[in-house]
Amino acid sequence: MVTDLGQVDDKDLLYKRAIAAGASNIYIEDVREEFIQDYIFSALKANALYGEGYLLSTALSRPLIAKKIVERAKSEGIDTVAHGCTRKGNDRIRFRESISALNPTLNILEPACEWEIKDRNKAIGYALNHGIPLSIDKRRPYSIDNNLWGVSIEGEALEDTVKEPPEDIYKITVSPREAPDNELYMEIGFEKGIPVKINGKFLSPIEMINKLNKIGGLNGIGRIDMIEDRIIGLKSREIYEAPAATILYKTHKALESLVLSKDMLHLNEMFSFKYAELIYTGKWHSPLKKTLDAFIEKSQEKVTGKVKIKLYKGNIVVIGRKSKYSLCHERFSFYR
Ligand code: ARG
Repeated sequence: MVTDLGQVDDKDLLYKRAIAAGASNIYIEDVREEFIQDYIFSALKANALYGEGYLLSTALSRPLIAKKIVERAKSEGIDTVAHGCTRKGNDRIRFRESISALNPTLNILEPACEWEIKDRNKAIGYALNHGIPLSIDKRRPYSIDNNLWGVSIEGEALEDTVKEPPEDIYKITVSPREAPDNELYMEIGFEKGIPVKINGKFLSPIEMINKLNKIGGLNGIGRIDMIEDRIIGLKSREIYEAPAATILYKTHKALESLVLSKDMLHLNEMFSFKYAELIYTGKWHSPLKKTLDAFIEKSQEKVTGKVKIKLYKGNIVVIGRKSKYSLCHERFSFYR
């Protein structure tokens, strides 16, 4: 079972790999629309941000992948599912949380935890010994997870917290040094907390995110290098590239600051923290998350309007905000 979250580019390789690994069939499902509408936009409306700057691209995808696995298990009449995560990362916990929340009767097989494949190198060795084709570049053996909301890069040289990440790890952003020497002006239009327009033109959610990833990436926007606290207590050095997510997070917050009251903004901030934690720890399919959604949905009723920004060599500068619900009233707030 493969879900296309914007990362699938070589279906043939996926097919060959699945058959070589002993699968009798492979299902590749395009879930991009659902990912954006139900997962990405919910996180955006909540301003979900984990730690210093992680916009949760990988973490957000896990509950959707789990949902698709559970649905497929049902339609195929299967009682056991499997994932390939090791014990050290967060993803194992996220898959377990989501799968058991959606169907507690399913058995979960975890070869990378239970068999001799205990780490990444052993997994690569196992695949090579068994003739399973991999798309890993030996010179750049990082662990990369990629979807519409961002790229997560970890492992190898990056584990040394002292060293600057090599330039060649980045997949979708140029170095700010290589970005154009001119500022790029843009306007993002929102309706009830959801981005709908760029420069006055309506775009579909997929077009919107692809376009912002492209433009943002060309301007060196959305590179994050941080130390992250994993669920089990380990710290790890993580690199992210999230141009569209960074632009939308900033512009959404800028618009909220114009239309929401002080008390509302303060409460939102507390909820953002909790919401991000729920996503990070794999509790997407939980009653608490649904309860928070109800609050957040209500809070977005007036988050409609436009935000003007300029992009310049890795920076986003908000230069204007406009809304028919603006709470900045000239008569009261301006110093005259
Ligand atoms: N640390 C991030 C998270 O837990 C990203 C993990 C990405 N996985 C990967 N194989 N690079 O959400």
